[in-house]
Amino acid sequence: MLVSGEHRHLPKAEVGAILEAEGLPFRMLEDSNRLLRLEAPPPAGLAVSKRSAFCRLCGVELLHCKASLGDILSSLQALGSEIGLNSGESFAVRVWRTGDSQSPLTGFEVEKAVGRVLLTMERDLRVDLRRPRKLFVGILSGRSFTFGLSVDGEGRKYFSSRTPRRKPFFHPSSLQPKIARCMVNLSRAAGGKILYDPFCGTGSILIEAGLMGLEALGGDLRKKMVKGTKVNLQHYGVENVHLTLANALAPPIRQVDAVSTDPPYGRAATTAGVPIPVLYRKFLEEIGLILKPQGYMCIAAPSTLPLEETAEEYGFKTVGRYSIYVHRSLTREIYVLRRM
Ligand SMILES: C[S@@+](CC[C@H](N)C(=O)[O-])C[C@H]1O[C@@H](n2cnc3c(N)ncnc32)[C@H](O)[C@@H]1O
Repeated sequence: MLVSGEHRHLPKAEVGAILEAEGLPFRMLEDSNRLLRLEAPPPAGLAVSKRSAFCRLCGVELLHCKASLGDILSSLQALGSEIGLNSGESFAVRVWRTGDSQSPLTGFEVEKAVGRVLLTMERDLRVDLRRPRKLFVGILSGRSFTFGLSVDGEGRKYFSSRTPRRKPFFHPSSLQPKIARCMVNLSRAAGGKILYDPFCGTGSILIEAGLMGLEALGGDLRKKMVKGTKVNLQHYGVENVHLTLANALAPPIRQVDAVSTDPPYGRAATTAGVPIPVLYRKFLEEIGLILKPQGYMCIAAPSTLPLEETAEEYGFKTVGRYSIYVHRSLTREIYVLRRM
């Protein structure tokens, strides 16, 4: 997998969470810069490709070797029919070079050389760069070259169409769609389970959950936000999300399977007069009563408010904490908590 360079640790955490949510066992073989290699059952690639925010490219590995043209081409020849091309098929090869690649080769040079070898492997093969039947992908990273067959869930996820300013209902506290999606994934939400976002704001988390086909419940203290979220959900064609006007400190539901949420930080969004530390403490207490045991909560907080200790007091174990710089006066912490 080639993951986004936007964050050092979130992409790996997201991939692991997706596989756990989908019940797919895996073993991490390599995590270097933007390359993740893991051993997992075949549906893993499709699951990650469909769900993730930060995975840029996902494939089934065919070879992993030293990044020299000699090694690449001889390993490719040795693969023979394992390459999986059938006579008459069209294919394309695309090669990426990560920032830490120590190879003098360019992606283009490798694409051309690999393409030439592949053309000899079966009868009547042809290169089609626009709509290939099979897309082979390679990554030059560190001293190595990794090559495989691309797995594409549903193509591009068009995150750019869901940035805060492009939603019909806008509020400055709105999350970027990739962060929202990653937060859904970190909560291990999955089909047949209920995801809860009690501080829904403009609905960023609920939109991503809905687009992933998950069932979700959202709430907000303000009527304006609930109405706005409804408009946003409709705009993106999301139907499987329920909304309620409710105080997160008095949840309107008895049990949920997963929580992904972004409470106010005491800046753009209202806290209805409740001091931020009190709001988080009370919320952790309440949510601890309704999140099912072993269930996960992904929660954002300002970095000035460490949550680990309070979370532990209310029966949560912190299993991940990731910092995201937003601007000079705000660093957002993304916590992943598991209910004990
Ligand atoms: C940071 S914003 C959420 C932004 C949201 N993630 C988005 O992307 O649009 C926090 C939201 O929590 C709501 N809120 C504040 N106190 C609340 C409470 N006690 N119960 C429910 N919602 C509350 C605010 O009205 C605000 O919409």
